[in-house]
This record gives sequence, structure tokens and C-alpha cells, in this order.
Amino acid sequence: ESPEKELVIGFSQCTTYDDWRKAMDQEMRRELSFHENVHFKFRDASGNNDLQIQQIRELVKSGLDLLIVSPNEAEPITPVVEEVFESGIPVILLDRKTNSNLYTAFVGADNYQIGQMAAQYIVRYVNGKGHIIEIKGLSGSTPFIERHQGFKQTIQQFPDIQVSPVEGDWGVKRDGKAAFIQLLEKDQDYDMVFAHNDILAIAAQKVQAESYPSSNLKIMGVDGLPGPRGGIQYVSDGLLHATILYPTGGDKAIQLAMDILNNRSFQKENILKTTVIDSSNVDVMKNYTHEIRSMESDMDRMEQKIQEQLEIFTTQRNLLYTLSLL
Ligand code: FRU
Repeated sequence: ESPEKELVIGFSQCTTYDDWRKAMDQEMRRELSFHENVHFKFRDASGNNDLQIQQIRELVKSGLDLLIVSPNEAEPITPVVEEVFESGIPVILLDRKTNSNLYTAFVGADNYQIGQMAAQYIVRYVNGKGHIIEIKGLSGSTPFIERHQGFKQTIQQFPDIQVSPVEGDWGVKRDGKAAFIQLLEKDQDYDMVFAHNDILAIAAQKVQAESYPSSNLKIMGVDGLPGPRGGIQYVSDGLLHATILYPTGGDKAIQLAMDILNNRSFQKENILKTTVIDSSNVDVMKNYTHEIRSMESDMDRMEQKIQEQLEIFTTQRNLLYTLSLL
């Protein structure tokens, strides 16, 4: 990798509303700090498809060597991503996909598998018989579509399990609380909730704790973020029964971008590992993520120190240069 070659990477992020996306952005920036020759252009589409299309066009117009995109919803974002790819700019899809195979590479966990894992966990927990509430993600985004398919195709093999749906939109526009309350008002005989992310899961947990404290409803989410307001802590505190780890892939996306830009070999599909987190393994997960987090904050501090030293060095060099001219 030649350090003098300036590279421009654009990232079109569907939203920055939640901690999961914030964690993704942080991972990217940490990884980018290893590549001083990369100029990073970031755009937040605030969950708006039209804005995302416009921002991708603007990014490309301003000059890009590579585009990373997390499409808000698959269908509306597909044509613009195809255009960029066909114009010869490599495109990495991150976490959310388009409806097309015109892209250079994908990074993310297998959401179909996540849906299956949730269903298998629930089937085992309720012994093949029970009432389940499914609180959904944004209907046009591929993680929702795939989690829902995986969940449905597993659950429907068990005729004694009924599923009642609630719209949740990933908890951005709505968190499903009202519809969830309506269901519980009619009938409190539900056994488990599968919420498509931990934001929706914890919203459901609040309703349960405030209005139905004696119900025995078990709530399961997806994401499993570390930190005090993350799914791992919620499971550890017993607020959520379980969650499924959904890695953000921010670091991997930048590594992959560098491989592509430096003509190294790479894989088109980069599937990140996932696992169920419940009381049986939450302590291990907590210790592990705690260590990683403290290593990361050490790295951030070191990076800051290096930047400070660089600034001092540049000032001194400029000073010496000015003096030598006198
Ligand atoms: C964050 C999020 C996550 C979810 C993912 C799906 O914006 O809603 O909670 O797992 O997006 O793309």
C-alpha cells in the first residue's frame, strides 16, 4: 500500500439514530485511523430513502474511489446502487442489502439464520406450544425481511404455536408499544416476545414492568450491544430473557475496502458470526466485551496522543523552517 496515494471512501449510512449505528461508525473510524491516506466522507440519511439516494449521488459526484452503503430500504435504494456499481466504483453493502447482485461485496451477519435461531430458541423454551408476539423491524429493510422469513419458516412447523405481529420499524418511527399494549389488554396469555431488535425488546419490557408486572412474559431481542444501555447488560440484569448478537461489521467493512482498493484478493460475501446470549453465557460475553471495550478506549487515547504529537511536530518543523529563512 503506497502511503502517498490519496483514497476517498464514501459511506452512506441509513440512520444514526441508535447506539448500534453509533457503534458501527466508531468501529469504522478506529479502523480508518490506521490509514492516513484515506479521506472519509460520511452522510447520514436519517431513515429517509429519498435523502439517501440524493446523498449517494452527491457523494459520487464529489469524487469517490469506493462507496460503502447501508441501504435504508432495499427496493428504493437498489437502482442508485446499481448505477454506482456499473459506473465502475466498487460498492460494499453493509448490514442491509439491496435487491440486486450488482455490488462488489457484502459485510454482515446472516439475518435469515438469526430469525431461525430465535424461532428454535422459542420453540424449545415453550415446548412446541404457546402464544408468541413478534415485534417487527422496518418492513422494506432486508434484515427485517430475512429475520421474519427465517422465523416464520421455522415456527410454522409447529401448529400449536401462534404468532401475533406488531409493527415496530426498528423503534425509530414507532416502537410498537401501543399495539403491544392492545394485544396484552385483550389477552395476557402470551408466553414470549421476539422483538427484531433490542430497542423494541426493551420498549416491550418497559410496558410489561409498568402495566403487567405479574405476567411471566419472556422477551427476546437482537443486537446484543456491549455497554450500560446494550442488550448484553439487559440480559445480565434479567430485563431481557435473551438477545442474539448482531455484529455491526464497521471495522470489517473498512478492512475490506482497503483490500479492494489495493487490489488484494477478497470475498464477495463476508458473513459475520452470531450467537444467542442468555443467562447461560451472558457473564462470559460481558467479561469479553468489557475487555475489548477497554482495549478500544486505550487505542482511542493512543490515537489522540499520536495526533497531538504530530501537531506539535508540525508546528515545530514550521517554526524551524521559518527560522531558517530569517
Ligand atoms: C440499527 C438497527 C439494528 C438492527 C439493524 C438492522 O439501526 O435497527 O437495531 O439490528 O439496524 O439493519
